[in-house]
Amino acid sequence: MARVAIVTGGTRGIGRAICEHLKADGFTVVANYAGNEDAARQAGEELGIATYKWDVGDHQACLDGCERVAKEVGPVDVVVNNAGITRDGTLHRMSFEDWNEVMRINLGGCFNMAKACFPGMRERGWGRIVNIGSINGQAGQYGQVNYAAAKSGIHGFTKALAQEGAKFGVTVNAIAPGYIDTDMVAAVPPAVLEKIVARIPVGRLGQAHEIARGVSFLCSEDAGFVTGSTLSINGGQHMY
Ligand code: CAA
Repeated sequence: MARVAIVTGGTRGIGRAICEHLKADGFTVVANYAGNEDAARQAGEELGIATYKWDVGDHQACLDGCERVAKEVGPVDVVVNNAGITRDGTLHRMSFEDWNEVMRINLGGCFNMAKACFPGMRERGWGRIVNIGSINGQAGQYGQVNYAAAKSGIHGFTKALAQEGAKFGVTVNAIAPGYIDTDMVAAVPPAVLEKIVARIPVGRLGQAHEIARGVSFLCSEDAGFVTGSTLSINGGQHMY
């Protein structure tokens, strides 16, 4: 039977591309989403995957949502923690809510999903967790103390959980995307984005499928010896 993979924030952008690649790899793919019903319907229909709505920043919602997926689709063997938001602004303008919401969803979501799915993977002796970090968690970014802290936290979370999963056949890795051509990056003011792109050695934004390709490898059978690693896919913008 095909293994079941959940991709959070899986109906748009990078998440949707990840769903597409994992489906092509033979997984039964479930996309979680937070609110955009049109995008969810479209992804569900076009990719032929099930979509489930819950807020990954809500601990109980993750436990309940993953339990429903396990009952209705099958035990979850792969989790891709992709869901994330930005609330950019310099520290002196950033509200506590902007700080807290980014930490709750971007970093809290990884903990909540792992709490829901890691125990089953551990018991069954096989699992793959891939956390989507960011170049801005590695290098920092002006106007992103919240996002950089959450993404940096994801990189630490990955290395710690990798140590716990290793002897149970559960690998935990991260991908650190650079600036990818998605709605999130399109929200950066054009003049700022122009300056950022000028600093990318490859000379362009990345494409969502270039991140998905990396996720696909980390979720494969072949990647069983890769754990606790961070794969940077950023056009050479930051060499870590
Ligand atoms: N380093 C140093 N100074 C900078 C700077 C930088 N990188 N960026 C801006 N500044 C300076 C400006 O030069 C300006 O200085 P002066 O007032 O002396 O001219 C000052 O900061 C204010 O700049 P802005 O006009 O841009 O200020 P703002 O308040 O309108 O906006 C901001 C601030 C919201 C942070 C805006 O600059 C911004 O959106 N920056 C982009 C942040 C970013 O890269 N976000 C990534 C989102 S995508 C993502 O996160 C995905 C991923 O994983 C990569």
